[in-house]
Amino acid sequence: MKLIALLIGLAMSSCVMATDVNSLINKYSQNGKIAPSIKNGESFFNNKHGKDWSCATCHGTPPTSIGKHAVTDKPIQPMAPALNPERLTDEAKVEKWFRRNCNDVVGRECTDSEKVDVLAYLNSIKK
Ligand code: HEC
Repeated sequence: MKLIALLIGLAMSSCVMATDVNSLINKYSQNGKIAPSIKNGESFFNNKHGKDWSCATCHGTPPTSIGKHAVTDKPIQPMAPALNPERLTDEAKVEKWFRRNCNDVVGRECTDSEKVDVLAYLNSIKK
């Protein structure tokens, strides 16, 4: 019985984690309190912030083709959801990589406003 409860719990938590870019924008914007700016998101993504890399260093400019990791050279699948529907659909994954990548690029966590802008920019990219 415990095992069944555990399995149901796992199934439910993976449902809760599945998301899409609009729900993420809604979450980081604190339900619309922060207005997304595609322009700021684009400039944030493509520019350096006092360190060696920009987001685009690994994800490409624009992030519509396969990127390349700045250290390992490993290919990174396109970031724009229009080209890669699996992108920005897993809240835990997005959280994890925002934390890691913002620290690498900006030297701190990204603010909610920066996250909203980047997501709006990525979401605005067409094929
Ligand atoms: C040193 C290389 C590198 C840099 C710089 C980098 N990223 Fe990434 N990013 C990765 C890798 C590797 C992954 C995980 C592998 C994958 O998803 O293809 C990833 C994944 C992500 C994801 C998860 C996407 C998803 O839903 O699948 C987001 C969001 C993201 N990065 C945003 C950013 C932002 C914003 C910046 C700039 C602040 C940035 N990244 C800079 C390497 C990088």
